[in-house]
Amino acid sequence: MNAEDVLETLDITSWTGPFDADTQLRAANALEDGRVLFLPRLPFEIRPDEQEFLTGGSGDDSRKNISLDPATGRCHGTSYQGDQLARLAAMIDRFGQGAEALLRGLVPGYAPHLQRARTSFRPAEIRGRDYSERHDDRLMHVDAFPTRPLRGRRILRVFSNVAPGGEAREWRVGEPFPDFARAFMPRLSAQLPGKAWAMNLVGLTKAPRSEYDHYMLGLHDAGKHDRAWQANSPQARVDFPSGTSWACYTDSVLHAALAGRFALEQTFHLPVEAMTWPERTPLRILEGIAGRPLI
Ligand code: SIN
Ligand code: FE
Repeated sequence: MNAEDVLETLDITSWTGPFDADTQLRAANALEDGRVLFLPRLPFEIRPDEQEFLTGGSGDDSRKNISLDPATGRCHGTSYQGDQLARLAAMIDRFGQGAEALLRGLVPGYAPHLQRARTSFRPAEIRGRDYSERHDDRLMHVDAFPTRPLRGRRILRVFSNVAPGGEAREWRVGEPFPDFARAFMPRLSAQLPGKAWAMNLVGLTKAPRSEYDHYMLGLHDAGKHDRAWQANSPQARVDFPSGTSWACYTDSVLHAALAGRFALEQTFHLPVEAMTWPERTPLRILEGIAGRPLI
């Protein structure tokens, strides 16, 4: 596999459009087909009074992730305060708004369904850091989160590399999701009766885990723990240069982030009903393998 197999490149230069019908169709088809929409001519502009957030060495750059909750406007994971914090939050929020405008313009069918979740700023260098295997996103995985059951909703993410020194963000992108799911799902044990309810009761999850969430977490963990699969499964190396943006469904695009620093990321959740091709969603694919509904 090489980069051309997993990328759909759009030459757009505007976050707000308007985009022509051909561009819109290519965008929706590539995203739902499990490819990465690569936007090499769409930089996210950092303003002069934000440049300070792109310098190494300021205590905060060792953090993996500074996140902004759009519901509250609050930043998490930073020790900045006062005016600096306000400017950092404004930068992150501006990226989130740009990402939302981009998706509304590129896939108008998503607009009524787009749920904007957290926005993150990722200043820290990925290469050379210490992570536990389960938390190591340098290993190939699909995104699935233990505390946030999605009950079939999709995870669509928009990224920009804003590294001031020009460093690329290096990813590997793996095999098609159906191949991965067919190989790994039969190895997973079933969800224990009552467990999802009990975990939610004691506050370990924000909603009861559906069987879908159980299997997605199982796929995330089993893939990361399988060294032979990590080493030998089909994968393409993809470099996202500084000054470029990209978007993909990270619940179905197998990905690993190997190196890079200073990225922005916006997560959206979308219901399966918002898809142009619902049969391509992880929910429908896992249900097809299981032979029954999973939510
Ligand atoms: C990930 O979702 O695994 C990390 C992506 C990135 O930060 O580039
Ligand atoms: Fe991930």
